[in-house]
Amino acid sequence: MGAVDYLAINRANWDERAPAHAASADYGFDRFRADPAHLSDAVRFDRARLGDLTGVRGVHLQCHIGTDTLSLARLGARMSGLDFSPESLRQARSLAGDLVDFHESDVYAALDVLEPGGYDLVYTGLGALCWLPSITRWAGVVAGLLRPGGRLFLREAHPMLWAFDEQADPLALRYSYFEHAEPLVLDEFGTYVATDVEFTHGRTHTWNHGLGEIITALLDVGLRLTGLVEHDSVPWNALHGQMTESPNGEWRLTEHPEALAASYTLQAVLD
Ligand SMILES: C[S@@+](CC[C@H](N)C(=O)[O-])C[C@H]1O[C@@H](n2cnc3c(N)ncnc32)[C@H](O)[C@@H]1O
Repeated sequence: MGAVDYLAINRANWDERAPAHAASADYGFDRFRADPAHLSDAVRFDRARLGDLTGVRGVHLQCHIGTDTLSLARLGARMSGLDFSPESLRQARSLAGDLVDFHESDVYAALDVLEPGGYDLVYTGLGALCWLPSITRWAGVVAGLLRPGGRLFLREAHPMLWAFDEQADPLALRYSYFEHAEPLVLDEFGTYVATDVEFTHGRTHTWNHGLGEIITALLDVGLRLTGLVEHDSVPWNALHGQMTESPNGEWRLTEHPEALAASYTLQAVLD
């Protein structure tokens, strides 16, 4: 399966879901429009770790429909967003207007459309790295975008979470924790927000990357790890029948939530 095939298959999946996501209560476009200070749950979750973003030049890789990107802009950053899904970017532009400039590109080609060494902040949010076959190539892009002293801010689902069969009850490990050469090919016709829309593009090609592989890839391209916090929660119902939602929109295991690191926030600086 060549590179073009996985990109086309995954793009069709995201293009179909983007309008349904933008219309969903979970992404809350209405709340963003009603309140100019409203922030996404993901950005609010990491608000203290993000620190002062005033005047920071940032780029959000795999920005989807722009809710986290706009939230970072509302905190004072001068944001760009990048995604390979034109339908996602159409929704993002309708939400963020002129506050963010959006670019359509595969992550691996980001240096062709964004200024190399031009950014103080590279932000990547939940459910992004699993769409990329090689974490080493991704780390090279991150390093290429940052100016010396610039910071990577990554909040992601934990690779341990991706190793579980999300439908199994009781919990069962099923998928690779480590990066694998061949994609995991699944057909799932739903999505992670509540919607009545029936999707026709269900196929996805994804890859897992172990936490050690992610950190090693970043160290190898000259980034210095400055923070790694593992969380017992993730902002969607990732293990069906096994998780309970908290008031802040985060889901954790109903039984023994302390047993699973479900997501993490990683920060690293380019020396
Ligand atoms: C789960 S979403 C990111 C979600 C984001 N954290 C949010 O909640 O809005 C993943 C995004 O990655 C994008 N994507 C997947 N593969 C990509 C690639 N190779 N290059 C650029 N964007 C990609 C998809 O279009 C989608 O918008």
